[in-house]
Amino acid sequence: MQDRPSIPIGCLYGIGLGPGDPELVTVKASRLLAKLPHLFAPKADQVSLSIAKSIAAHHVGANVQFHETVYPMTRDPNVLRDSWRKAAAPVVAVLERGQDAGFITLGDPMLYSTFSYLMRAVRELLPNARVEIVPAVMSFAASAALTEFVLGEQKTQLTVAPAPDTEAGMSALIAQGGRLVMMKVGSRLPQLVDWLRASGHLAQTRLVVRAGLSGQRVITDLSRCDELDKVGYLSTLLVDLEPGEAL
Ligand SMILES: C[S@@+](CC[C@H](N)C(=O)[O-])C[C@H]1O[C@@H](n2cnc3c(N)ncnc32)[C@H](O)[C@@H]1O
Repeated sequence: MQDRPSIPIGCLYGIGLGPGDPELVTVKASRLLAKLPHLFAPKADQVSLSIAKSIAAHHVGANVQFHETVYPMTRDPNVLRDSWRKAAAPVVAVLERGQDAGFITLGDPMLYSTFSYLMRAVRELLPNARVEIVPAVMSFAASAALTEFVLGEQKTQLTVAPAPDTEAGMSALIAQGGRLVMMKVGSRLPQLVDWLRASGHLAQTRLVVRAGLSGQRVITDLSRCDELDKVGYLSTLLVDLEPGEAL
């Protein structure tokens, strides 16, 4: 009996779409989006799912099939591992059929993106999986551009962090000095603004909401901004912590 020739497995592309403006999608990402038959995006995060799809829609081919991967809503490491395996299974099925698959993500795939979990889970199920990561404009780069906020000059230290949950966490970030980018701001904004006011940094803080998307807001004076609790998930704070350097 002759062995059937094995099909070469497909490649998983982690495709960063940039922060929102379809013109900020890289040429490489655009080329891949136009040719890939299967695009996956995380489902639980509905905001990212629909936005990622709407950015990708400017670039995809006519026969693309979108798949939603269920993003586990737990911090339990065992439950997480199992859930990611389940999420990875349909991706692995596509790759094993010899087809390529793309996982689309807002901003860059290597910065607070569900792509990292999916990539590990795919590799667990298919250790010889081919993976290619397509980097992208990170949302904080777009936010810095919109506010003319210089992220670094000469020896400035730049800290990029998720918005802290505690005042001690905020103080630790402030103690770093230099420039600070806080992501995942959302409903924490009123508390963060209070802490930044108390530490004397509010005048040196900028807020960008939905950079490059409908409803974009650029706020340079947070002391005059109301409805802080309504800015939503896609918001980023930029803080200049250098003493005596007002923006
Ligand atoms: C899960 S992280 C994804 C980061 C993304 N991978 C990147 O490279 O920018 C989501 C956070 O990114 C920031 N973000 C993403 N897109 C944004 C946008 N268009 N405008 C402002 N902030 C954005 C927000 O801080 C949001 O809470």
